Amino acid sequence: MCGIIAYVGPKDATPVLMEGLARLEYRGYDSAGMAVVGTGGLKVRKAKGRVRDLAEGLPRRFKGSPGIGHTRWATHGAPSDVNAHPHLDGSGQVAVVHNGIIENAAVLRSRLERQGVQLVSETDSEVLAHLVALADGADLEESVAVALAHVEGTYGVAVLDQRQPDRVLVACNGSPLVLGVGEHEMLAASDVAALVRHTRQVVHLDDGEMAVLTADGYRTSTLDRRPTSKRPMLVEERAEAYAKDGHPHYLHKEILEQPAVVSRTLSGRLDERFHTAHLGGLGLEARDVAALRRVKILGCGSAYYAGMLGAGMIESLARIPADAEPASEYRYRNPVVEADTLYVAVSQSGETFDTIAAVRELKRKGARVLGVVNVVGSTVARECDGGIYLHAGPEVSVASTKTFTATAVAFGLLALFLARIRDLGPADGKRIVDGLRALPGQIDEALGVDRDVAAVATTYAERQSILFVGRVRGYPVALEGAQKLKEISYVHAEAYPASELKHGPLALVGPEVPTVAVVPDDHLLDKNLSTIAEITARGGPVIAVGHRRELPGATCVWTVPKNEPELDPVLLGLPLQLFAYHLAAALGRDIDRPRNLAKSVTVE
Ligand code: F6R
Repeated sequence: MCGIIAYVGPKDATPVLMEGLARLEYRGYDSAGMAVVGTGGLKVRKAKGRVRDLAEGLPRRFKGSPGIGHTRWATHGAPSDVNAHPHLDGSGQVAVVHNGIIENAAVLRSRLERQGVQLVSETDSEVLAHLVALADGADLEESVAVALAHVEGTYGVAVLDQRQPDRVLVACNGSPLVLGVGEHEMLAASDVAALVRHTRQVVHLDDGEMAVLTADGYRTSTLDRRPTSKRPMLVEERAEAYAKDGHPHYLHKEILEQPAVVSRTLSGRLDERFHTAHLGGLGLEARDVAALRRVKILGCGSAYYAGMLGAGMIESLARIPADAEPASEYRYRNPVVEADTLYVAVSQSGETFDTIAAVRELKRKGARVLGVVNVVGSTVARECDGGIYLHAGPEVSVASTKTFTATAVAFGLLALFLARIRDLGPADGKRIVDGLRALPGQIDEALGVDRDVAAVATTYAERQSILFVGRVRGYPVALEGAQKLKEISYVHAEAYPASELKHGPLALVGPEVPTVAVVPDDHLLDKNLSTIAEITARGGPVIAVGHRRELPGATCVWTVPKNEPELDPVLLGLPLQLFAYHLAAALGRDIDRPRNLAKSVTVE
């Protein structure tokens, strides 16, 4: 969703901002803009469309420092030049970029209009520029603090005032902002992706905090101007991690790098002596685990489906009742929060609004919440009591693939850890440790079907609809397979438990509607073969993913290596990622930036 980049220092801010905006593109946006303080004051340029459209329209003399830039994902007001950020106050002295939603924007707009202010855009954000200018504080800090006191809602903001050309002011509440500490220069961004080319020393602002950035450093305080103390931390990601490395799309790169990703997720976490997992960040004592009655996992979209896989692993290995639920629904049903339940929030970005809201609701009710998170220092990571980092590296493509797999692996570790404190014996513990250790190599082997999958995907590219079915452990795999396909190819896809087929969706089956069936070689194999027979009897083509080279009735089978039954879903999902990718490629879709979607859904 929207992205922010800000710079203050001796360099010309324009190329720094432009490069930062390009780094933020993956989040999803529909317009972009920037403002710098140059000789002669504030200069602003904004444009509907891509960052390259903005770059093409920039005059040569567009130079200066400090500067702020923005990619906008429209919420209030259509994508247009005028609705793009930065927004200015009436005198053109103050420029503001804003992420989030100002909930009382309508009230603030009418109040400003009554004071004679002319608003030029349809956005909620523009009010901020006018409020800052009208606040007329002793310095920019005071003006921003006074302005934000009127605001209800969520914001990450960066503010310039041409009368104070040595600084940028940033503040946040419910929308992330990270400071980048450079050599005699400071940056800020909504996402470390926009910073790592310049510095890996970062400071995460907390909600209700603001910071004054100058070339010499930063000063943080609460919004009521009580100083806070924040030390920089080193981020793992290097700028090279954002390169495409010769792949046509980030998605392809991210699918194929999964062996290395899973090695990192597992690194240092397998305990060969006691056949368990080392998960130091959980902060759970054996006595806490012994007292657990339930595990509840919350996440949105693919994170929710990965949570379903995790619940299955925990239930079967640790024999603790476990389930997953969409985090986006959770807080609205006034959930019963139990003291002996372990809650786990799953989020690649750690910034998904609905997941954060679920965590906050749980914390308010006294729950213990763990996070399974990729982005280090993100809001979910900071607000949980402990957790597991995925160490998957930055995921640039909007659709998640490597972090889905890494999350499933992290749940394998968590399930093993819980299970070895509960009833799982050392022999079974060793079986799972060995299974986890084998995963990177097996993932590499499983991805060897890339070319076969590409050929099949091209054959089915023109179909209107594709069904996905799986049983028990295979069902979340089917859900995620369908999710990937619809997200990036825009082909309608639906997933069902295979056992439900006869209860409704079988009516859809016929020669025009292919079914992708998840058919592992397990105790449900015969039942899955019956499902395939039911489909083929009605003329429906079946593409199967499983362990056998051939399955009766299936038009084609993508085979993956066999691991332990609890971990098999990690491998079974891989050909389905490739299927979605190649089918979308055959249709010429914008694979890394599918329409209407954003990488990090920071609003409700
Ligand atoms: C699907 C996808 C989304 C995200 C969801 C949660 O490919 O990427 O469904 O999984 O928006 O995002 P995070 O994991 O960042 O909380």
